[in-house]
Amino acid sequence: MLLTPSHFDSESVRRQFPALNSDFPLVYLDSAATTQKPQCVIDAINHYYASHNANVHRGSHSLTAQATSQFEQARQCVQDFIGANSTKEIIWTRGATEAINLVAQTYARQNLKPGDEILVGEMEHHANIVPWQIVAQQTGAIVVKVPMTQDCQWDMAAYQTLLNEKTKIVAAAHMTNVTATRQPIEAIIKLAHQAGAIVLIDGAQGIVHEKVAVQALDCDFYIFSGHKLYAPTGIGVLYGKQALLEAMPVWHGGGKMVEKVSFEHTSFTGLPGKFEAGTPNVAGAIALSAAIRWLNDFDPQQVAAYYHQLHQQLVSGLQSIEGVQLIGLQPNASVVSFIVELEGEIIHHNDIATLLDQQNIAVRSGHHCAHPFMDALGINGTVRVSLGIYNNAHDIDAFLSALNKALDLL
Ligand code: ALA
Repeated sequence: MLLTPSHFDSESVRRQFPALNSDFPLVYLDSAATTQKPQCVIDAINHYYASHNANVHRGSHSLTAQATSQFEQARQCVQDFIGANSTKEIIWTRGATEAINLVAQTYARQNLKPGDEILVGEMEHHANIVPWQIVAQQTGAIVVKVPMTQDCQWDMAAYQTLLNEKTKIVAAAHMTNVTATRQPIEAIIKLAHQAGAIVLIDGAQGIVHEKVAVQALDCDFYIFSGHKLYAPTGIGVLYGKQALLEAMPVWHGGGKMVEKVSFEHTSFTGLPGKFEAGTPNVAGAIALSAAIRWLNDFDPQQVAAYYHQLHQQLVSGLQSIEGVQLIGLQPNASVVSFIVELEGEIIHHNDIATLLDQQNIAVRSGHHCAHPFMDALGINGTVRVSLGIYNNAHDIDAFLSALNKALDLL
């Protein structure tokens, strides 16, 4: 299919982002870390606090009813966005990391026995490794690494060999955060289910660039954060199949997750409240739904075509610079990681990022919270350029020219 970005009005999209339209000439190429926020998301937060702020699911005054209604509509919006079966399957969390920890400390802690195995991809973000290590220590289970191939893909041959009757949980990223490599999650899920294991998909990067349908995927858990999806920090989502969530023990204790408390016995409320102790991030949930509605207005094919154009410009520009080595390059990915080797020496990624920053170019450098990934590649970090919907050809040109200047100085 020939992709044409002709109808994607990038300038009008960009104008909606105050951070990119101030007097400060920012070239923001760090959207895989967090995205900038469009005005409609900022307005949703302001409007909530200015006009509807109240605690939710508590009390009976009108303001709390308004806040509760908007909060639950936001949950419905997320349900529709990912194709879940019920709002009971949508649990608000502080972010992707908390969602994985929730599953580890409830489902996994309840179900794992000594010797059981949790299969985790080598290229995972630390948030999809460490919670499993913690619960493995608590239960006597073992975290087993699924190696990655040279092109940063889940090694399916190795995976099939590793799956066995002791495998209880498989944890995989939808897209890795270092290279935006799309993992074969459909096959990962199918094979895990055949082996009797359940699957958690870390969608923090994947959901930004691909329509997700959790029922069609048949994953048991799918998690993501709002802030990579043009929504605020501090709000995230755990999707889980209802039967699994119902059978899971509660995690955090406090208000709202209970039915009746006495000093002799406490009973807990049903889904989704049983996992939402304390006052939730009401404004964050409402703003996430504003971001989703905003994103839903774009034609995904036009957006994909636009990213493709920027990616081509970025990659061909980088390939023309002496010493640049692209890491795990993926066609059309929104992320490009690279190192620079000059005269037999690898230039430190932080030095490059600092010199770029001095020219108002924001990229991420370092290990990207993926030490095992870096170890597998035999490097200690990369410079990572990650694109958002607001980037344009000028950003890429400015970055390439700044990189050339930086390398001239080193
Ligand atoms: N996970 C985020 C990143 O990749 C923070 O930068």
